[in-house]
Amino acid sequence: MRMEPDSTAVRTAMWRALHVLIDKPPHVLDDTLSLQIAGVDDDDWQTRPDMDPERTGPNRSSIVARARVTEDTVTSSGVQQYVVLGAGLDTFAQRDKRTVRVFEVDAPATQAWKRERLDDLGLLVPERLRLVPVDFEAGESWLDKVVAAGLDPAIPTVVSMLGVTMYLTREAISATLRAAASLAAGSVMVFSYSRPIEMAPPEIRPILEGAAKGAAASGHPWLSLLTPDEAASLARDAGFGDVHTETSADLHNRYFADRHDGLSPIGGEDLVIATVGGG
Ligand SMILES: C[S@@+](CC[C@H](N)C(=O)[O-])C[C@H]1O[C@@H](n2cnc3c(N)ncnc32)[C@H](O)[C@@H]1O
Repeated sequence: MRMEPDSTAVRTAMWRALHVLIDKPPHVLDDTLSLQIAGVDDDDWQTRPDMDPERTGPNRSSIVARARVTEDTVTSSGVQQYVVLGAGLDTFAQRDKRTVRVFEVDAPATQAWKRERLDDLGLLVPERLRLVPVDFEAGESWLDKVVAAGLDPAIPTVVSMLGVTMYLTREAISATLRAAASLAAGSVMVFSYSRPIEMAPPEIRPILEGAAKGAAASGHPWLSLLTPDEAASLARDAGFGDVHTETSADLHNRYFADRHDGLSPIGGEDLVIATVGGG
């Protein structure tokens, strides 16, 4: 049977590459490797409706901004371990020039597909990257599995979960956060969430409504849309000390304020950055 990756993971990988290919520098994130992993080797993909340069600008900006904040957090925190929950076609392990050990966690089918692609491309870097299959909705502990794969729970770790919470039930989100909050003091969790569509600026709502319909039609319905208060509460209830929300407007101010091409993540995902033992 031919393995297929999660279609939402492929789409976000394409948006990361599209940013480099069509947006003017400076690029918020420089990742075209994801396109190679996706196996896209012609230009036809850029004509897909969900790659429309104008209409999907907010999605593209949001995806690169959330990845950039997270990767900067890994770098600035000086941790030696990074867990990427719902990694999809993430390429941090291949792009990072240091020695951070990366544990990518994803649903078994998508991850088996990615393992084969990385192997084909000679990008598996086993001494730096461990691929750990887990279904967050199946009651499995991602933490037990990454520890079995070599993570040291006694030292600080950065954990990310980007573009994933909307596809999970609240119970599964809480369980993944509780596990992260049980890591060593100083560990940091970064996760993104989408707000209920009615909270978005009016001009963004049709894009989000289209995205929600597309997600449901492709078998990946949005299950959890969160307000900023709900997202922060989920993190506090999971046991994190310091909990900080970074809105899409904050991300705009951080990375897009000096641009003159209208590119902006406003109305896209917000982030929660939560620290173990802070507060
Ligand atoms: C939109 S993609 C995001 C990928 C990547 N984090 C990024 O930002 O490009 C969502 C990812 O979450 C994973 N995912 C969704 N539901 C999951 C579940 N129940 N268990 C494990 N992974 C899941 C998908 O396989 C996919 O790789």
